Amino acid sequence: MRLDDHNAVITAAGRDFGRALAITLAGLGATVFLSARTLAAAERTRDDIRDRGAGKAYAFACDLTDPASIRSFAHQVAAHTDHIDVLVNNGARYLEGEDLLAVSDEDVADTLASGATGTVLVTKNFLPLLLRSAKPDIITMISTAGLPGHARSTAHAAFYGAKNAQAGFTEILSKRLRPQGVRVISLYPPDFDNADPLSPGWHTAPRGPENPLTSESLINCILFAIGQPRDCFIKSFHFEEPG
Ligand SMILES: NC(=O)c1ccc[n+]([C@@H]2O[C@H](COP(=O)([O-])OP(=O)(O)OC[C@H]3O[C@@H](n4cnc5c(N)ncnc54)[C@H](OP(=O)(O)O)[C@@H]3O)[C@@H](O)[C@H]2O)c1
Repeated sequence: MRLDDHNAVITAAGRDFGRALAITLAGLGATVFLSARTLAAAERTRDDIRDRGAGKAYAFACDLTDPASIRSFAHQVAAHTDHIDVLVNNGARYLEGEDLLAVSDEDVADTLASGATGTVLVTKNFLPLLLRSAKPDIITMISTAGLPGHARSTAHAAFYGAKNAQAGFTEILSKRLRPQGVRVISLYPPDFDNADPLSPGWHTAPRGPENPLTSESLINCILFAIGQPRDCFIKSFHFEEPG
Protein backbone atom coordinates (compact mmCIF):
# COMPACT_ATOMS: atom_id res chain seq x y z
CA MET A 1 0.00 0.00 0.00
CA ARG A 2 1.28 3.48 -0.89
CA LEU A 3 0.05 6.76 0.59
CA ASP A 4 1.93 9.19 -1.67
CA ASP A 5 -1.16 11.32 -2.24
CA HIS A 6 -2.11 11.53 1.45
CA ASN A 7 -1.61 14.40 3.86
CA ALA A 8 -1.87 13.15 7.44
CA VAL A 9 -2.06 15.02 10.75
CA ILE A 10 -1.14 13.08 13.90
CA THR A 11 -1.28 14.41 17.45
CA ALA A 12 1.11 13.31 20.22
CA ALA A 13 3.62 11.80 17.81
CA GLY A 14 6.67 12.48 19.96
CA ARG A 15 6.65 8.97 21.38
CA ASP A 16 4.92 5.62 21.48
CA PHE A 17 1.95 4.96 19.21
CA GLY A 18 1.76 8.39 17.58
CA ARG A 19 5.44 8.26 16.70
CA ALA A 20 5.14 4.71 15.34
CA LEU A 21 2.19 5.73 13.18
CA ALA A 22 3.94 8.87 11.89
CA ILE A 23 7.05 6.91 10.92
CA THR A 24 4.97 4.20 9.23
CA LEU A 25 2.70 6.58 7.28
CA ALA A 26 5.68 8.66 6.15
CA GLY A 27 7.47 5.46 5.12
CA LEU A 28 4.50 4.67 2.87
CA GLY A 29 4.84 8.06 1.18
CA ALA A 30 2.38 10.20 3.14
CA THR A 31 3.21 13.79 4.00
CA VAL A 32 2.94 13.85 7.77
CA PHE A 33 2.15 16.91 9.90
CA LEU A 34 2.96 15.68 13.37
CA SER A 35 2.62 17.36 16.71
CA ALA A 36 3.83 16.73 20.22
CA ARG A 37 3.36 18.61 23.44
CA THR A 38 6.85 20.08 22.98
CA LEU A 39 8.33 21.11 19.65
CA ALA A 40 11.57 19.27 20.52
CA ALA A 41 9.73 15.93 20.83
CA ALA A 42 7.93 16.47 17.52
CA GLU A 43 11.20 17.42 15.84
CA ARG A 44 12.87 14.22 17.03
CA THR A 45 10.26 12.13 15.22
CA ARG A 46 10.41 14.41 12.17
CA ASP A 47 14.21 14.13 12.05
CA ASP A 48 14.05 10.33 12.32
CA ILE A 49 11.69 10.30 9.34
CA ARG A 50 13.82 12.70 7.31
CA ASP A 51 17.10 10.98 8.21
CA ARG A 52 15.74 7.74 6.76
CA GLY A 53 14.72 9.56 3.60
CA ALA A 54 11.24 8.12 4.06
CA GLY A 55 8.48 10.58 3.22
CA LYS A 56 7.91 14.20 4.11
CA ALA A 57 7.35 15.30 7.67
CA TYR A 58 6.72 18.60 9.44
CA ALA A 59 6.88 19.09 13.21
CA PHE A 60 4.69 21.30 15.41
CA ALA A 61 4.08 21.90 19.09
CA CYS A 62 0.54 21.28 20.27
CA ASP A 63 -0.59 21.12 23.88
CA LEU A 64 -3.95 19.40 23.74
CA THR A 65 -5.07 21.08 26.97
CA ASP A 66 -4.66 24.54 25.42
CA PRO A 67 -7.23 25.71 22.84
CA ALA A 68 -4.89 28.45 21.56
CA SER A 69 -2.13 25.89 20.99
CA ILE A 70 -4.54 23.68 19.01
CA ARG A 71 -5.68 26.63 16.88
CA SER A 72 -2.06 27.59 16.24
CA PHE A 73 -1.23 24.01 15.16
CA ALA A 74 -4.10 24.03 12.66
CA HIS A 75 -3.12 27.48 11.33
CA GLN A 76 0.48 26.41 10.86
CA VAL A 77 -0.54 23.27 8.96
CA ALA A 78 -2.87 25.37 6.79
CA ALA A 79 0.14 27.47 5.80
CA HIS A 80 1.71 24.32 4.27
CA THR A 81 -1.28 22.69 2.59
CA ASP A 82 -4.81 23.50 1.44
CA HIS A 83 -6.19 20.13 2.61
CA ILE A 84 -5.57 17.13 4.82
CA ASP A 85 -6.82 13.61 4.14
CA VAL A 86 -6.26 11.86 7.46
CA LEU A 87 -6.54 13.29 10.97
CA VAL A 88 -5.38 11.01 13.77
CA ASN A 89 -6.57 11.94 17.24
CA ASN A 90 -3.91 9.99 19.07
CA GLY A 91 -2.97 12.12 22.06
CA ALA A 92 -4.54 11.60 25.47
CA ARG A 93 -2.92 11.66 28.84
CA TYR A 94 -3.09 8.36 30.73
CA LEU A 95 -3.92 8.47 34.44
CA GLU A 96 -3.44 5.40 36.62
CA GLY A 97 -5.28 4.44 39.81
CA GLU A 98 -8.57 2.95 40.94
CA ASP A 99 -8.90 5.36 43.87
CA LEU A 100 -10.76 8.51 42.82
CA LEU A 101 -9.20 10.42 45.72
CA ALA A 102 -5.60 9.43 45.05
CA VAL A 103 -4.84 12.00 42.35
CA SER A 104 -4.79 15.78 42.35
CA ASP A 105 -7.57 17.94 40.89
CA GLU A 106 -5.01 19.20 38.38
CA ASP A 107 -4.31 15.65 37.15
CA VAL A 108 -8.04 15.05 36.69
CA ALA A 109 -8.48 18.31 34.75
CA ASP A 110 -5.42 17.62 32.59
CA THR A 111 -6.56 14.09 31.75
CA LEU A 112 -10.02 15.22 30.68
CA ALA A 113 -8.70 18.29 28.87
CA SER A 114 -6.12 16.41 26.78
CA GLY A 115 -8.25 13.39 25.88
CA ALA A 116 -11.77 14.81 25.72
CA THR A 117 -11.62 18.55 25.02
CA GLY A 118 -8.41 18.20 23.04
CA THR A 119 -9.92 15.62 20.69
CA VAL A 120 -13.01 17.75 20.07
CA LEU A 121 -11.01 20.93 19.47
CA VAL A 122 -8.40 19.29 17.22
CA THR A 123 -11.20 17.81 15.12
CA LYS A 124 -13.07 21.12 15.01
CA ASN A 125 -9.99 23.09 14.00
CA PHE A 126 -8.89 20.64 11.30
CA LEU A 127 -12.34 19.96 9.86
CA PRO A 128 -12.13 22.81 7.31
CA LEU A 129 -8.93 21.28 5.89
CA LEU A 130 -10.48 17.79 5.90
CA LEU A 131 -13.54 19.03 4.01
CA ARG A 132 -11.24 20.14 1.19
CA SER A 133 -10.02 16.55 0.75
CA ALA A 134 -11.54 14.08 -1.70
CA LYS A 135 -10.90 11.27 0.83
CA PRO A 136 -11.22 12.62 4.37
CA ASP A 137 -10.78 10.26 7.33
CA ILE A 138 -10.74 10.99 11.06
CA ILE A 139 -9.10 8.28 13.16
CA THR A 140 -9.43 8.36 16.94
CA MET A 141 -7.46 6.16 19.30
CA ILE A 142 -9.96 5.47 22.06
CA SER A 143 -9.56 2.41 24.33
CA THR A 144 -11.54 -0.40 25.86
CA ALA A 145 -11.96 2.16 28.68
CA GLY A 146 -14.31 4.00 26.31
CA LEU A 147 -16.69 1.05 26.07
CA PRO A 148 -19.91 0.98 28.11
CA GLY A 149 -19.56 -1.25 31.15
CA HIS A 150 -15.85 -1.90 30.73
CA ALA A 151 -14.09 -2.26 34.09
CA ARG A 152 -10.92 -4.28 33.47
CA SER A 153 -8.47 -1.40 33.39
CA THR A 154 -6.83 0.02 36.50
CA ALA A 155 -6.90 3.45 34.89
CA HIS A 156 -8.31 6.32 36.91
CA ALA A 157 -12.00 7.16 36.49
CA ALA A 158 -10.99 10.47 34.89
CA PHE A 159 -9.27 8.51 32.10
CA TYR A 160 -12.46 6.43 31.70
CA GLY A 161 -14.33 9.73 31.49
CA ALA A 162 -12.00 11.10 28.79
CA LYS A 163 -12.27 7.92 26.72
CA ASN A 164 -16.06 7.79 27.05
CA ALA A 165 -16.17 11.41 25.94
CA GLN A 166 -14.13 10.52 22.85
CA ALA A 167 -16.51 7.62 22.17
CA GLY A 168 -19.62 9.80 22.43
CA PHE A 169 -18.07 12.50 20.29
CA THR A 170 -16.94 10.20 17.48
CA GLU A 171 -20.25 8.29 17.52
CA ILE A 172 -22.35 11.34 16.74
CA LEU A 173 -19.72 12.83 14.45
CA SER A 174 -19.67 9.67 12.34
CA LYS A 175 -23.38 10.09 11.60
CA ARG A 176 -23.25 13.85 11.09
CA LEU A 177 -20.22 13.87 8.76
CA ARG A 178 -21.31 10.85 6.69
CA PRO A 179 -23.28 13.00 4.21
CA GLN A 180 -20.11 15.01 3.54
CA GLY A 181 -18.10 11.86 2.91
CA VAL A 182 -15.96 12.14 6.04
CA ARG A 183 -15.29 8.73 7.61
CA VAL A 184 -14.96 8.76 11.39
CA ILE A 185 -13.06 5.64 12.39
CA SER A 186 -12.45 4.77 16.05
CA LEU A 187 -10.21 2.12 17.57
CA TYR A 188 -11.00 0.62 20.99
CA PRO A 189 -7.85 -1.37 21.82
CA PRO A 190 -7.02 -3.04 25.12
CA ASP A 191 -3.46 -2.54 26.43
CA PHE A 192 -1.08 -3.10 23.55
CA ASP A 193 2.65 -3.51 23.01
CA ASN A 194 4.11 -0.18 21.98
CA ALA A 195 7.43 -0.98 20.27
CA ASP A 196 9.28 1.68 18.32
CA PRO A 197 9.38 1.07 14.57
CA LEU A 198 13.08 1.95 14.54
CA SER A 199 13.89 -0.62 17.25
CA PRO A 200 14.83 -4.24 16.50
CA GLY A 201 11.69 -5.37 18.40
CA TRP A 202 9.33 -3.89 15.81
CA HIS A 203 9.31 -6.78 13.39
CA THR A 204 10.28 -9.51 15.85
CA ALA A 205 7.56 -9.05 18.51
CA PRO A 206 5.65 -12.32 18.94
CA ARG A 207 2.22 -12.01 17.36
CA GLY A 208 0.44 -15.24 18.23
CA PRO A 209 -3.01 -15.60 19.86
CA GLU A 210 -1.39 -15.81 23.30
CA ASN A 211 0.46 -12.52 22.83
CA PRO A 212 -0.73 -8.99 23.50
CA LEU A 213 -1.92 -6.85 20.62
CA THR A 214 0.89 -4.90 18.97
CA SER A 215 0.95 -1.32 17.76
CA GLU A 216 1.96 -2.72 14.36
CA SER A 217 -1.35 -4.63 14.18
CA LEU A 218 -3.27 -1.48 15.14
CA ILE A 219 -1.49 0.46 12.41
CA ASN A 220 -2.48 -2.28 9.97
CA CYS A 221 -6.13 -1.81 11.04
CA ILE A 222 -5.85 1.92 10.30
CA LEU A 223 -4.25 1.26 6.91
CA PHE A 224 -6.98 -1.25 6.10
CA ALA A 225 -9.75 1.20 7.01
CA ILE A 226 -8.38 4.17 5.09
CA GLY A 227 -7.57 1.93 2.12
CA GLN A 228 -11.22 0.96 1.56
CA PRO A 229 -13.29 2.43 -1.27
CA ARG A 230 -15.27 5.49 -0.25
CA ASP A 231 -18.58 3.63 0.09
CA CYS A 232 -17.11 1.67 3.00
CA PHE A 233 -17.53 3.57 6.26
CA ILE A 234 -15.80 1.38 8.84
CA LYS A 235 -16.86 3.02 12.09
CA SER A 236 -14.95 1.15 14.77
CA PHE A 237 -12.46 -1.58 15.57
CA HIS A 238 -12.94 -3.75 18.67
CA PHE A 239 -10.57 -6.39 19.97
CA GLU A 240 -11.13 -9.49 22.11
CA GLU A 241 -8.96 -9.15 25.21
CA PRO A 242 -6.67 -12.01 26.23
CA GLY A 243 -8.07 -14.28 28.99
N1 LIG B 1 -0.85 1.94 25.13
C1 LIG B 1 -1.95 1.25 25.32
O1 LIG B 1 -1.93 0.10 25.79
C2 LIG B 1 -3.29 1.87 24.91
C3 LIG B 1 -4.45 1.08 25.02
C4 LIG B 1 -5.66 1.61 24.59
C5 LIG B 1 -5.72 2.90 24.08
N2 LIG B 1 -4.58 3.64 24.01
C6 LIG B 1 -4.70 5.01 23.46
O2 LIG B 1 -3.92 5.10 22.29
C7 LIG B 1 -3.33 6.40 22.20
C8 LIG B 1 -1.82 6.26 22.12
O3 LIG B 1 -1.40 5.46 23.21
P1 LIG B 1 0.09 5.49 23.75
O4 LIG B 1 0.26 4.28 24.61
O5 LIG B 1 1.05 5.73 22.67
O6 LIG B 1 0.02 6.76 24.69
P2 LIG B 1 1.03 7.13 25.88
O7 LIG B 1 2.27 6.32 25.81
O8 LIG B 1 0.24 7.13 27.17
O9 LIG B 1 1.40 8.61 25.50
C9 LIG B 1 0.46 9.59 25.57
C10 LIG B 1 0.77 10.59 24.51
O10 LIG B 1 -0.13 11.68 24.68
C11 LIG B 1 0.65 12.84 24.83
N3 LIG B 1 0.00 13.84 25.66
C12 LIG B 1 -0.43 13.72 26.92
N4 LIG B 1 -0.93 14.90 27.32
C13 LIG B 1 -0.79 15.76 26.29
C14 LIG B 1 -1.08 17.12 26.09
N5 LIG B 1 -1.66 17.86 27.05
N6 LIG B 1 -0.80 17.70 24.91
C15 LIG B 1 -0.21 16.97 23.93
N7 LIG B 1 0.11 15.68 24.04
C16 LIG B 1 -0.18 15.09 25.23
C17 LIG B 1 1.96 12.41 25.42
O11 LIG B 1 2.93 13.40 25.20
P3 LIG B 1 4.17 13.64 26.24
O12 LIG B 1 5.28 12.78 25.71
O13 LIG B 1 4.44 15.10 26.13
O14 LIG B 1 3.70 13.22 27.60
C18 LIG B 1 2.19 11.12 24.64
O15 LIG B 1 2.70 11.41 23.36
C19 LIG B 1 -3.81 7.16 23.42
O16 LIG B 1 -4.98 7.89 23.10
C20 LIG B 1 -4.17 6.06 24.39
O17 LIG B 1 -5.12 6.43 25.37
C21 LIG B 1 -3.37 3.16 24.40
